[in-house]
Amino acid sequence: MYRLFLVLCLCYGLPGYASSEETTTSVYEHCGNLQQQENIQIKLITGTWYVIEILQHKTNDKLYNGEKFEVPTCPSVFLTLAGSDTDLKLYWNEDTGDLEYLFKIKDQSSPGFWLSSGSQNGTLVQVTTYDQFAGMVYVRKAISNHMVLTFCSPNTQLYSVVLARDKTLDAKELKSIVNHMHLQKLPITQTKRTCRSSASTARATAWMTTAFCLMYLAWYLRVHK
Ligand SMILES: *[C@@H]1O[C@H](CO)[C@@H](O)[C@H](O)[C@H]1NC(C)=O
Repeated sequence: MYRLFLVLCLCYGLPGYASSEETTTSVYEHCGNLQQQENIQIKLITGTWYVIEILQHKTNDKLYNGEKFEVPTCPSVFLTLAGSDTDLKLYWNEDTGDLEYLFKIKDQSSPGFWLSSGSQNGTLVQVTTYDQFAGMVYVRKAISNHMVLTFCSPNTQLYSVVLARDKTLDAKELKSIVNHMHLQKLPITQTKRTCRSSASTARATAWMTTAFCLMYLAWYLRVHK
């Protein structure tokens, strides 16, 4: 009986499980099945945003093996309509340079799906490692204080950018974004956290100022006693 059960498991259960996992991942690599939020009003998502996290989803790239790290840079994104209701300009600016993307909303009834239009320009393009993005962007979540965009270029690039109106985003919100990706079996193979150092730098500065004031006070009291 036990042996029969084991054989059944090996024949049906395990291979079935493995192949369904693979199918899901490759569907995403081809940009299929990426959901977008409905009822987006483009006018409400234009303006300035800060990049909080960049999440890689590619599984067939040896560069990404699930690591999480923080970088001091804090890119900002300025999103605007460029001339018409269907042309979007995304201006990305960080310490090392800038980038400008143009997108087109193909179908007005689905404003959360953008197609790249032409190549990017800006100083970051001159960096030898820059890969031009040609593909689509899915607005997967857009609420008043944060937004999640997934960039997908079939078999080439697949990553999400978490944006917020402020330079920080509540850990709870970040967790719920990640949980939602886990539920959809969208793998996260690298987490790059941006805009994190400003808060810790401010804290360090406050500590230094306090320490300096205390030292000065001690010196003052000694001299003027
Ligand atoms: C990209 O090119 C356009 C058109 O030439 C120009 O107006 C824009 O300022 C450029 N953007 C950047 C970031 O260099």
